[in-house]
Amino acid sequence: MRTVYLNGAYLPEDQANISVFDRGFMFADSIYEVTAVLDGKLVDYQRHRGRLRRSLAALGLPFGLDDAQLLQVHRDLIQRNQLGEGLVYLQVSRGAADRNFLFPAAGTPPTVVLYTQAKAIIDSPLAQRGLVLISLPDLRWGRSDIKTTQLLYACMAKEQARAQGADDAWLVRDGCVTEGSSNNAFIVTANGSVVTRPLSTALLPGTTRDALLALVQAEGLRLEERAFTVEEALAASEAFISSSSSFIYPVVRLDGQPIGHGTPGPLAQRLRALYIEHAYASLG
Ligand code: PDD
Repeated sequence: MRTVYLNGAYLPEDQANISVFDRGFMFADSIYEVTAVLDGKLVDYQRHRGRLRRSLAALGLPFGLDDAQLLQVHRDLIQRNQLGEGLVYLQVSRGAADRNFLFPAAGTPPTVVLYTQAKAIIDSPLAQRGLVLISLPDLRWGRSDIKTTQLLYACMAKEQARAQGADDAWLVRDGCVTEGSSNNAFIVTANGSVVTRPLSTALLPGTTRDALLALVQAEGLRLEERAFTVEEALAASEAFISSSSSFIYPVVRLDGQPIGHGTPGPLAQRLRALYIEHAYASLG
């Protein structure tokens, strides 16, 4: 049984209970982070902390832990659960209050939850095989840049993908791919440029995306931050996705058609290897 963190206490997971009036439960009035763990240490923690602070500020969510305390909770939890490789999940909600759309009175304590989840990130069969994707309209709200727990459409998109024999979906708004249901989207053009959509309110500023773009530039590869269509992706020589829980996965099919040769592309595989190197170098 795991030990989880809830509002200052470390508890067995079956004793960590939150109120039925929690606003995370009633309104998805909560934000989250997922940070990868390798060798019992955090990958790119500063990037996650920065995005957490940004999400909290965007929603005006209260949060009592300072940077040092928050890092300590992450480390304690990894240690208590003897986690070697996997993820730390963190969620902060606006706390429990009588059901009212308006935010509760100042001073209502937030609900802060962290738990660990074991996962083989480095030795991943999907990294070898590559993802099969479908495209779907992006029907999410207009602030997909905030990492909220309002993830119903992502769940529906993944279910639709599964129903069609695919692994996941890329979401399309105004004719262009915004991102994956839980990852950022990239293609490689015939002339070798790495293309990904520029940041805006339409997509999550991925921590893996951010680190990867720095690696792409350090490698002297051509980078184009611009929107791309599904048609362009189908004509691309490669495609791939990035996220903390997968790092980089090649994409081999989209909407029933192969991308490139329909096998993991060489650049996607090289960037995965480079990102893994970066991840180990970033451990903290
Ligand atoms: N998902 N876009 C969306 C919509 C996401 O949900 C995620 C992360 C990303 C990639 O962000 P990062 O590289 O910082 O993980 C992009 C996490 C892993 C999840 O919901 O499980």
